[in-house]
Amino acid sequence: MTLPEKVGQMMQLDAREDLDDHVLRKHAGSILHTSPERVLRAHALTARTRLRIPLLVAEDCIHGHSFHEGATIFPTQLGMAATWDADLVERVARATAVEVAATGVHWTFSPVLCIARDLRWGRVDETFGEDPVLIGELASAMVRGYQGDGLADPTAVLATAKHFAGYSETQGGRDASEADLSRRKLRSWFLPPFERVAREGCRTFMLGYQTTDGVPITVNSWLLDEVLRGEWGYTGTLVTDWDNVGRMVWEQRVQPDYAHAAAAAVRAGNDMIMTTPGFFEGALEAVESGLLAEAELDRAVARILSLKFELGLFEDPRHPDADRQRAVINHPDHAALNLEVARRSLVLLRNDGTLPLTGGRARRIAVVGPLADDAQTQLGDWAGSSGQADWLPDGQPREMITTVLDGLRAHVPPGWEVVHARGADILTLAPDPEGDTFPDGQPRPQVVVPSPPDEALIAEAVAAARDADCVVAVVGDRVELVGEGCSTATLDLVGGQIALLDALAATGTPLVVVLLASKPLVLPESTRDAALLWVANPGMRGGQAVAEVLLGLVEPSGRLPISFARHVGQQPTYYNQVRGQHGTRYADLTQDPAFAFGEGLSYTRVEYADLRLEVDVLAPEDHVRAAVTLRNTGTRPARETVQAYVSDTVTSASWADKELKAFRQVELGPGETVTAHLDIPVADCTIVDARGRRVVEPGEFTLLVGPSSRDSALLRVGFTVKSPA
Ligand code: IFM
Repeated sequence: MTLPEKVGQMMQLDAREDLDDHVLRKHAGSILHTSPERVLRAHALTARTRLRIPLLVAEDCIHGHSFHEGATIFPTQLGMAATWDADLVERVARATAVEVAATGVHWTFSPVLCIARDLRWGRVDETFGEDPVLIGELASAMVRGYQGDGLADPTAVLATAKHFAGYSETQGGRDASEADLSRRKLRSWFLPPFERVAREGCRTFMLGYQTTDGVPITVNSWLLDEVLRGEWGYTGTLVTDWDNVGRMVWEQRVQPDYAHAAAAAVRAGNDMIMTTPGFFEGALEAVESGLLAEAELDRAVARILSLKFELGLFEDPRHPDADRQRAVINHPDHAALNLEVARRSLVLLRNDGTLPLTGGRARRIAVVGPLADDAQTQLGDWAGSSGQADWLPDGQPREMITTVLDGLRAHVPPGWEVVHARGADILTLAPDPEGDTFPDGQPRPQVVVPSPPDEALIAEAVAAARDADCVVAVVGDRVELVGEGCSTATLDLVGGQIALLDALAATGTPLVVVLLASKPLVLPESTRDAALLWVANPGMRGGQAVAEVLLGLVEPSGRLPISFARHVGQQPTYYNQVRGQHGTRYADLTQDPAFAFGEGLSYTRVEYADLRLEVDVLAPEDHVRAAVTLRNTGTRPARETVQAYVSDTVTSASWADKELKAFRQVELGPGETVTAHLDIPVADCTIVDARGRRVVEPGEFTLLVGPSSRDSALLRVGFTVKSPA
């Protein structure tokens, strides 16, 4: 291969731009942001190149094939996390891979393994929440689902663990700000989910945008080379985030020009350089001027070519296949799976007895709120409807999406009446006062202008509420408030929504708030007694799932993968803060979350009793084996998520008071008693000591088991870990 051909293999370029230049002049190794038409055109251009090296086709298929018209759009990753069900998540990823592969895409930029701690961050919805163990469990399931039986399988797509590592630890919740993290903190919480998927065979990793300790992640050779490739033995491919190499020159200004930036990025271990067109000339100049040895570049090129060989692309470049697309896109099995995940993702947070809506309580329901019939917001970000994309200008077809209003209309018993009033607007968009473009010439997105309360809309909703037996208010956030570069300064409901809820609460009609929100938001005081169902962005079938749960046709069983704050100023509210931090409170506010990690109600009550251990003095190589008795004291079935936390009594370095170590789901019929068994390797009861080593420190521990992370909800039993013999 010539030097330009090698440099080109390292480049991933935007397929919406000049494909001729990308493929014929720059010898691009990969394209992203595609459509089947663009992919076919790019392959045809590749056939005209000297070596005809097949292209790697990549796309952000985050919760379904996000930008393919008519593809199955599942609940967002945070919604999936609320199921706490790894098998279900693996099935979602498998179904997604089958749809994605049929469109000629080989590589999806999913799952996200970031730990969501600051709720203001715009990408909380893309995560599995705040806990490293839950994240690791669900992420590895997703990787298995995408990669299937191995890369040679034509329905396998490459998974990407992103964003390596610590990107979510923002300043003030602002996306892509500095991540102020010590190496010990990284090792303690941020790296373990990545380590798990690296060891389990995730074939690609993507970096974030963050700078840590003054070093942009793109050139952090400690993380990329020493930890990822060295300690964990990772042999896969590393892709940068969007123009990370260019940003070091024009934004972060830590490199004087593209030649230096290219040399530093290659030397640190990056393989695929995403959307930095200037990498081509930069890398050529770096080698020609001696800044970079060609052998250093060869290592990255070899890793990319190996990946293409592993996928079998040299024999079959896996072109988009229209027949296969017709057969698999939104296949009835995928649609059924989508409904199942949506049902399981809904979290009932408060219920004064209003729910479920049964004959005695409601015959006339007022469905109000700006999101009651908002099909595209229901899908969430990365679904062809986000402001960031021009893939599907009109979003997904309306007829494929069931809104909450559609769902209630279709599922109320005969003779019931459903009336609808919008009640409020959320926002409009206006040009950014700072200008139309960023310094690199990219267009600036428009800015959000909250809509003021509209008296006429509120009056209409109040009239509907007064005439009804029950009000279902569907409120939350819209995609313009979510996503990359879209963090929020507040967690309050935007626009006229608070005034609407205040007015509805004042009617005295029983109120159910359906919080259709990408992330935990703070609700107004007026709704403190209302029933509350958090549904995240529940996907195409979400409205049906919500209606079924409200009407008691399906049991609510989701559990929070992330804590809800009482006030934006409480950030962060995650449960596993180190001792001495979680306990402290503000002078004017408790630090207690509004709803804690792991919480969620059913339409019945499950009591926990008699937590016992098989053995309570253990060696470091033993397992903590426990049993707990669960009793369903109500008249409806339950799916209970039993959560096991471990607390290390005294640690040599500051550590969380308790950490999730295991969980399992148990189904209980009305009145049924079941024994749940838990098994935790003592080797998992670690801390990271002051020298950064992950160790089990012998001594006293407590096992805590119950329905959530809230202390008052947990049973306890002590055990001792002996020193190694
Ligand atoms: O995959 C994404 C990443 O998560 C954020 N920046 C852009 C990438 C490609 O679209």
